[in-house]
Amino acid sequence: MFRWLFIYFLFYKTLIIKKLQLTNLKKSIEYNNIINKFIDEYAISDEPKEVSFRKLVTGVKTDRATHLIHSYPAKLLMNIPYFFLNNTVLSKEGDNVLDPFCGTGTVLLEAILAKRNAYGADANPLARMITNVKTTNYSLKKIEFYFDCIKEKIINEEIGSYPDVVNIDYWFLPNVKKQLNQILYSIKSIDSPKYLNFFMICFSNCVKKVSLADNRVSVPVRLRYDQYPIGHPLREKNKEKLKSLKSLDVIDKFNTIVRDNINRFKKEETNFSSKYKANIVSTNAKNLIKPNKDLLKGITRF
Ligand SMILES: C[S@@+](CC[C@H](N)C(=O)[O-])C[C@H]1O[C@@H](n2cnc3c(N)ncnc32)[C@H](O)[C@@H]1O
Repeated sequence: MFRWLFIYFLFYKTLIIKKLQLTNLKKSIEYNNIINKFIDEYAISDEPKEVSFRKLVTGVKTDRATHLIHSYPAKLLMNIPYFFLNNTVLSKEGDNVLDPFCGTGTVLLEAILAKRNAYGADANPLARMITNVKTTNYSLKKIEFYFDCIKEKIINEEIGSYPDVVNIDYWFLPNVKKQLNQILYSIKSIDSPKYLNFFMICFSNCVKKVSLADNRVSVPVRLRYDQYPIGHPLREKNKEKLKSLKSLDVIDKFNTIVRDNINRFKKEETNFSSKYKANIVSTNAKNLIKPNKDLLKGITRF
């Protein structure tokens, strides 16, 4: 019985992979034609072309693979690298792709999914960490194991002292601060740096959402309601958010973020091939001016 189930599972998986390959091939042919058309038109008009990548790239979900594991300001619309990487006019399988300001790795992720080797640089250590986690192959069994350890530790541990965070009481309500501390303490007990990074990214994604920062702006500004006149929708919305933070179950929120991110790694398309790697090669794009010839051989620029 189990043998038959296993054979059925393998057959089903092969069918899905074949379907994905066929879709990719169709996309590649379609994008080759579009790019060649753009090139021809540009050669005649000598004028820049206006393109809506949202309209051009259809049928690809925003929450593709691991793109949404963490928020980041000015993230690139993933349709753009998807279009430029899923064709054979600009680059081929096995080529190298560099994004010198890679941020959270939108280009690097699309590059490895398109079977290219990806290289990136970014000055922000959080962005580099998100990129690394986003493009890593994780064992789901191990993630679940560490998640269980964290959940158990959170319940059983009582922590007295807080980490030395600047203006901690300005940004967090006491109940939120206490729960974040419990989560952080439990995550830090993970002995594998690879899995520690995964949970730290989930933690980081949770921190801003439960803080007193106004999430509508990317720079740190404290959420207020009194600056809006009575009757203004943001006055009521912000008042409501501040009220809900007072009784917020931060641990539950963190668990939901972890679960959503685990599900992103469970998706068929997130099964990264070990042949194509994403590498952060520098913390400063300026250092790439004198390229390492071996590393940058055949790099695709866009
Ligand atoms: C618009 S963001 C890139 C977002 C990215 N495309 C994404 O989807 O996440 C620009 C990035 O450039 C980085 N940056 C600024 N100056 C830099 C430098 N000299 N070297 C490397 N990165 C730099 C910033 O840290 C920021 O993450």
